Amino acid sequence: MDLPLFKKYSEKGLALFKRQTSVVGIDLGSSSLKIVQLRKEKERAVLETYGEISTGPYAGSPVGKSVRLLDKKVVEMLTDLLREANAKAVQAVVSIPLRSSFIRMISMPLMSEKELAEAIPFEARKYIPVPASEVVIDWWLLPEGISSEGKDSEGFIKERKFAEVLLVAIHREAIEKYKRIFQEAKLEVNSFEIEVFSQVRSILGREIQPVLMVDFGAQATRFVVVDYGIVRLAHTVERGSLELTDALSRSLGVDFERAERLKQDIGFSPRPEHKETANVIEPLLDHIFSEGLRVVTEYHRRSERPIKKVWLTGGGSLLKGLVDFSINKFGLEARLAEPFSKTEYPAFLEENLKEIGPIFATALGSALRALQE
Ligand SMILES: Nc1ncnc2c1ncn2[C@@H]1O[C@H](COP(=O)(O)OP(=O)(O)OP(=O)(O)O)[C@@H](O)[C@H]1O
Ligand SMILES: [Mg+2]
Repeated sequence: MDLPLFKKYSEKGLALFKRQTSVVGIDLGSSSLKIVQLRKEKERAVLETYGEISTGPYAGSPVGKSVRLLDKKVVEMLTDLLREANAKAVQAVVSIPLRSSFIRMISMPLMSEKELAEAIPFEARKYIPVPASEVVIDWWLLPEGISSEGKDSEGFIKERKFAEVLLVAIHREAIEKYKRIFQEAKLEVNSFEIEVFSQVRSILGREIQPVLMVDFGAQATRFVVVDYGIVRLAHTVERGSLELTDALSRSLGVDFERAERLKQDIGFSPRPEHKETANVIEPLLDHIFSEGLRVVTEYHRRSERPIKKVWLTGGGSLLKGLVDFSINKFGLEARLAEPFSKTEYPAFLEENLKEIGPIFATALGSALRALQE
């Protein structure tokens, strides 16, 4: 079978040899599945293999389409990719899509951590829009001193009356579904993690200034504010890069494959000869990224801390011209994620890994989680 596999690399032999200490991070996106396998060596993360495979062909659709697959197709796809990428790790960390989860900051009266542990599940019911039995809840108490509400209008530190808590909930159904799939693919799931937390780990350094992370995927775009290295706000827009391809196909009267190629080859280009594609792409980008601008403004208003930088990730962010577009749109420094810089790899891969980094940020961040435990 001709596999719809785009990118792969494997450090031959080693993956098999050292498999006990290797971990594979898995990101099941709507248009493609990505894996990154790492191993820990003297406190460093060594890249063993990575790969990406398109979901479309497993549902009879073209490469690049977002599709919903039957569980058995996901198992088949995962098995194909693990084999092709020569990924032999048994331990996996699996990223859970933001759309199957819920993230929110809540304020709680000051009390001990033990009391908080009892009070939060009750409090959570007010915020989480589905019955408590359908979600798994987790939470973190934010350290004192980074509270956004800790200062009065003159900037003086206020006496702390509330604890800020990051509340996270994941649909039980999503976890159960994933557990079944990975069991069938003979992987032991070390842990599940909501995709944005994996991205924070693989993209950000020690920034304490607020930043905006943009995951421009095929089906959706997520805008996440991270401040002091902690996720503070997450907003999903159900529109992604796939929409650009569909619009190009419709407006220019070309099939999906050709439109996808035009998008990838030309991108968002200001050159006069590319006016036709730019005219289609610009209003869509503008619409999607305006939601990001709203997030930036809202965070500034609430916390009085202006966002300093934008990190772009997700395959959609490889669009030529997107970095400049983002700089103009947000009026901020914007950069593409370089998650592989958190790992060690052979020098000859450098160029390529820099280019494809945004595609693998989530899978890589998931794998890093297990190595850092
Ligand atoms: N070089 C490129 N230029 C422009 N767009 C690209 C490029 N490479 C990939 N893309 C686009 O990136 C999208 C895929 O990104 P990604 O793999 O992050 O999505 P996904 O994780 O499958 O989707 P989602 O996260 O929304 O479920 C596709 O729409 C694809 O067309
Ligand atoms: Mg994705």
